[in-house]
Amino acid sequence: MAVSSMNENGIKNRNYYAAGVPGSFYGRLFPEASLRFVHCSYAIQWLSEAPKELMNKSSPAWNKSRIHYANSGDEVVRAYKAQYHKDIEQFLHARAQEIVCGGLMVLIFPGVPNGTHHSQSLPSMSLELLGSCLMDMARKGIVSEEKVDTLNIPIYGMSPQELKEAVEGNGSFSIEIMEELPPTIPDHAVSGGQSKIDTQAFVCHMRAGLEGLFKNHFGERILDVLFESYKSKIEENSSIFMSGKAVNSFVLLKRKLSTSKLA
Ligand SMILES: C[S@@+](CC[C@H](N)C(=O)[O-])C[C@H]1O[C@@H](n2cnc3c(N)ncnc32)[C@H](O)[C@@H]1O
Repeated sequence: MAVSSMNENGIKNRNYYAAGVPGSFYGRLFPEASLRFVHCSYAIQWLSEAPKELMNKSSPAWNKSRIHYANSGDEVVRAYKAQYHKDIEQFLHARAQEIVCGGLMVLIFPGVPNGTHHSQSLPSMSLELLGSCLMDMARKGIVSEEKVDTLNIPIYGMSPQELKEAVEGNGSFSIEIMEELPPTIPDHAVSGGQSKIDTQAFVCHMRAGLEGLFKNHFGERILDVLFESYKSKIEENSSIFMSGKAVNSFVLLKRKLSTSKLA
């Protein structure tokens, strides 16, 4: 659909206005019943925060020496899942108030196929490997081990089934379409049937998304060393890495005409 044309000065005439709205999508961003269409792409894998119990030394979910959950105990995985459930319910609740009845919402998100054990989750395996690079750096005295202990990446690799259950539990939307998307380039580089990983493409993809978080936590000076060692580690572990499971999902939701759950 064409939504813009050029005027005589070569400036685009748009039949819409662009606006930036500050705030987190885990809370309300827009007025009630003001949106007809919402598109949220590659973002709801980010949790609102890492589960707090992962940083509590006396909790069974204390995630020592790790930054994610692929090789962690069940308590850690349970804490991530609980955070995801809380967040996704808040996301759906907020959007249900903002979207008009009959309005649509597209969600595109990376995650894992239904029934995947956390140890086989490619999103988590890739973060786990990055965590092991940080632990190597801690052993060499480049970063402090305590800094690694206190970093837990607030990302959860949900399955399509988990999203479906969240939508049904929320009750405000019907699922019109739910399907798997073709792999993106970085996914393809890992699990698209190639015999070799495009490590550089994968590391660039990860660095683009995570650099800010690592910079805030450890400082800028470690970034080049960290991602160089990550590249080597992926190359050394390529066969394990290629066994990881990942899926990109496309979901089209429709705001129901009425719901008993909206407070
Ligand atoms: C991987 S980028 C995706 C960017 C773009 N939507 C796309 O598909 O290319 C993830 C985006 O989600 C945003 N994000 C993560 N958590 C968020 C939150 N709680 N509220 C609003 N935006 C959030 C990040 O700031 C980032 O811009």
